[in-house]
Amino acid sequence: MKYSLILALVLTATAASAVDYKTQIAPIFRNKCYACHSVTKKVKGKLALDDAELPNQIGAGKNIIPGEAMKSTMFINCTLPSDDADVMPPDGKNRLTDAELDLLKTWITEGANLTGGGAAPAAAPAAMPAAGGVLKWTSSDGKVIEAEFMGLQDDGVLLKIPSTGVTHIVPLSRLSPESQEQAKTAKK
Ligand code: HEC
Repeated sequence: MKYSLILALVLTATAASAVDYKTQIAPIFRNKCYACHSVTKKVKGKLALDDAELPNQIGAGKNIIPGEAMKSTMFINCTLPSDDADVMPPDGKNRLTDAELDLLKTWITEGANLTGGGAAPAAAPAAMPAAGGVLKWTSSDGKVIEAEFMGLQDDGVLLKIPSTGVTHIVPLSRLSPESQEQAKTAKK
């Protein structure tokens, strides 16, 4: 029970994190902001959100403060009441949906990373064989669980949690590169 709970936590934590700039954030900017904030159209408020210009907006004291969505003008302005003079997009037209606001908030909270999904995982401990065929597995965001390798299936690895005997399919993409390697070389 304990381990399956941990696995569930690892998986939800992994699924909820790692917002991908390219596929999840850039399209929002393109649809809702570029009309006024793109070098290809207009640059209002000296703010361009094109991929190449965006890095200029990220950093302490800038519109996007990595890790601090609630202090980032970029996020705050999108959450203001529709009649607020500073609301973005202006006049409350074409507002971001709740889902888009969530993505934007998570992306900034995770570090406003422009490449790949979310913040880089913390240094993952090297996978160490444990007793009884149970191995340590590290998720792509650095969380560690212990489970028995039961085989590979499609793009996933079958991991059996010792305390419950339940086998879960974990997508390889949710594992650290080291654990992916371990999955590919592990023997049943
Ligand atoms: C219809 C045009 C328009 C659209 C669309 C628009 N903006 Fe703006 N934005 C402006 C204008 C004009 C300003 C400058 C306001 C000012 O200086 O008072 C501005 C300013 C800003 C600022 C403040 C810049 C600063 O340094 O003070 C932010 C942040 C911002 N916009 C974010 C966004 C985001 C994010 C979107 C898309 C969700 C967006 N805007 C969509 C017109 C627009």
